[in-house]
Amino acid sequence: MARSAFTFFILTGLVLLLSACQQESDAPPKKDAAAPAAATPAAAPPTVDPALAAQGKDLYNQNCIFCHQADGIGKPGFAPSLVNPELLSISSDRFLLSTIRDGREGTGMPPFAHLGRKKIEAIVAFLRSHAKLPDRAAEVDAEPRSQGDPRLGRFWFDQICATCHGENGDGYVAGGTGTAIGKEGFLSKASDGFIRETIKYGRSNTRMLGFTGPDAMANLSDSEIDDIIAYLRTVPSKN
Ligand code: HEC
Ligand code: HEC
Repeated sequence: MARSAFTFFILTGLVLLLSACQQESDAPPKKDAAAPAAATPAAAPPTVDPALAAQGKDLYNQNCIFCHQADGIGKPGFAPSLVNPELLSISSDRFLLSTIRDGREGTGMPPFAHLGRKKIEAIVAFLRSHAKLPDRAAEVDAEPRSQGDPRLGRFWFDQICATCHGENGDGYVAGGTGTAIGKEGFLSKASDGFIRETIKYGRSNTRMLGFTGPDAMANLSDSEIDDIIAYLRTVPSKN
């Protein structure tokens, strides 16, 4: 009895998985990712000290422009946009400051600890002066941690994410257009909420489209997204 119930469960699971794959390949990729639902028109982006931002702009032009391009717009497959509205909205100062300080080992992003905290803060002020959406970082970082199943997450990662982020989330070095989301450099700084929001809503005007809502390139449920996060957390230890 128990055994046939188990078989039924497995078969139903397979059918569901297959039909989900079907939907996904039928859905044509769309241009713009949906804006975060919590971004109400009334809420304003954070204000920045203009003198500090101007100092940061000079430092940016000396240290970062070669890869991240003028005004931080990025270059697909080479360096991500640093002025993307969704990125700035969910990035805490801690995330930005420590990413710039430590860089991302095994990627093209070098460490800038030698600049010192004050200069790095000025660069962050320059980046924030481009913000168009309210600062949601505290709320996003306070989201619950993923309780997902890494084995299920791996399926989705291999099917969907690996195309752009590389087989083990190695990023650009694997020839993809997405960053190295399977490496410690990213995973040690990003909260589960940050990763969840990025998967759900994507980043407008980049190849990173969201995975929920009518404009999604494929619809992933909240639990499937958490399965992917759980899988990502296991990737660095395998390499
Ligand atoms: C030699 C090229 C290069 C230079 C110079 C460089 N970066 Fe980067 N940066 C990269 C790459 C490549 C990545 C993506 C790494 C990955 O795959 O995770 C990145 C990622 C980042 C990220 C993470 C963005 C995200 O989407 O999560 C931030 C923040 C950042 N860089 C800031 C800076 C700042 C500020 C400077 C100058 C002080 C700078 N970078 C200089 C290549 C560079
Ligand atoms: C069509 C290509 C593509 C696909 C498919 C894709 N991504 Fe991305 N992803 C990108 C690009 C490009 C970026 C960087 C955007 C930028 O330049 O700001 C990105 C950024 C991200 C980031 C932020 C990383 C950082 O460095 O801050 C996360 C997290 C992420 N993607 C997760 C995923 C997951 C999980 C999947 C699968 C469900 C996925 N992506 C599928 C292209 C893609």
